[in-house]
Amino acid sequence: MIPSLILGIETSCDETGVALVRGGRDVLVNDVASQIPIHAQYGGVVPEIASRHHTEIISQMVEGARAKVADPVDAVAATAGPGLMGSLLVGLSFAKALAFTWRVPFVPVHHIEGHLFSAFLADTPPAYPYLALVVSGGHTQLVLCARPHDYTILGKTRDDAVGESFDKVARLLGLPYPGGPSIQKAAESGDPRAVAFPRALSAGDHLEFSYSGLKTAVLYEIRRRWEARGHRTLADREIADIAASFQAAAIDMLVIKMKEAVQRTGVRHATVVGGVAANRLLRERVAQELDVPVAMPPMAYCVDNGAMIAVAAHSLLEHGCTGDFTATPRATWPLGA
Ligand code: KG4
Ligand code: ZN
Repeated sequence: MIPSLILGIETSCDETGVALVRGGRDVLVNDVASQIPIHAQYGGVVPEIASRHHTEIISQMVEGARAKVADPVDAVAATAGPGLMGSLLVGLSFAKALAFTWRVPFVPVHHIEGHLFSAFLADTPPAYPYLALVVSGGHTQLVLCARPHDYTILGKTRDDAVGESFDKVARLLGLPYPGGPSIQKAAESGDPRAVAFPRALSAGDHLEFSYSGLKTAVLYEIRRRWEARGHRTLADREIADIAASFQAAAIDMLVIKMKEAVQRTGVRHATVVGGVAANRLLRERVAQELDVPVAMPPMAYCVDNGAMIAVAAHSLLEHGCTGDFTATPRATWPLGA
C-alpha cells in the first residue's frame, strides 16, 4: 500500500517548510517560515544563522501542522540535498527521528526532484515524457523527465544560476534581498528596451546557459552612469529601467533555450519549476510562446516548501522506494546520481 498521508520537511536553505500532503496531491498543510528578514540585512543567506533558525522553529512548526491535521502520518520525507550542510542536517535529522518514533518509512528527497514534483500540484499536471526548466537560486537546468525518476540533464548553466543573477543584480542596484521579487517590482515601472543587455549563448548548438556576463554588463552600465554623473547614485527611473532591461534579457535566455529543447526532444508537455518560476514575465512568456502545454506550480509551491518534498516522496514510494534511515545530507548531489 502506498502511504497516503506524508509529512514533508524542507530545510535546504533559508526557508523552513513543513507540509502534510494526502495522496501525493491534496495539500492539507503547507507552512513556510521564511528567514528573509533575518538574512536581508546581510544581503544574502548566512549559513550558520540559517541552520540555527531551522533548529529553533522546526519542532513548533511540526506541532503546528499536526494540530491542524491529527491523522496518523504514513511516511516522513525530508530534503537530503543539495543545499547548505547545517540546514539540511536539521531537517533530515528531525524527520528521521519522527519517522523512527512513529515507525513509518523515512524518505530522503533530492531538492531539485522536489521542485520537479511541484509541477504536479498545478491544475493540469504534466504527462511523461516532459521537459522541465528548473530555475532557482542555485540551479538553471533543462531536464528531460522520460519516466518517473528518470532524468536526463540536457543543459545547465556554465556559471551563475538565473536566481543568483537576480540576487546579485538587485544588490548592485541597491534593491533588497531576495533579488527576484524586488527586481520584478522595480521593473514594473521601467522600460525593458532602455538598455540592450546581451543574451549570452542564445545562438549555437547547445542547451547551456550563462548568466555571469549579464551580471557584469549590468555592473558596467551602472558604473558608466555613476561616472557620467560624478557620484555613486542612480535615479529611481534608472533603477527601474536597468531592472526591466536585465529581467527581459534574463528571461529571454530561458525562453529561447526552453523552446529549442522542446523542439529537439519532441516532448508534448513541459514544466517550469523553482523559485524563479514565480516570475510573472517568465510565466506569461512561457504560456504564450511554447507550442506545448506548460504546467506551472501555483505561486506557493515555486519557492522552497515542504509540500513539493512530500509529493516527490509519494511518487518515490509508489515506484519502489521503501525508505532509507541511513541517508545522510549531501551538500552537492547531482540530479539522478
Ligand atoms: O527555489 P528557491 O526558493 O531556492 C533555491 O532552491 O535556490 O529559489 C530562490 C530564488 C532566489 O534567487 C530568488 O531571487 C528567486 O528564486 N526568485 C525570483 C522570484 N521569486 C523568487 N526570481 C525572479 N522573479 C521572481 N518573482
Ligand atoms: Zn529550491
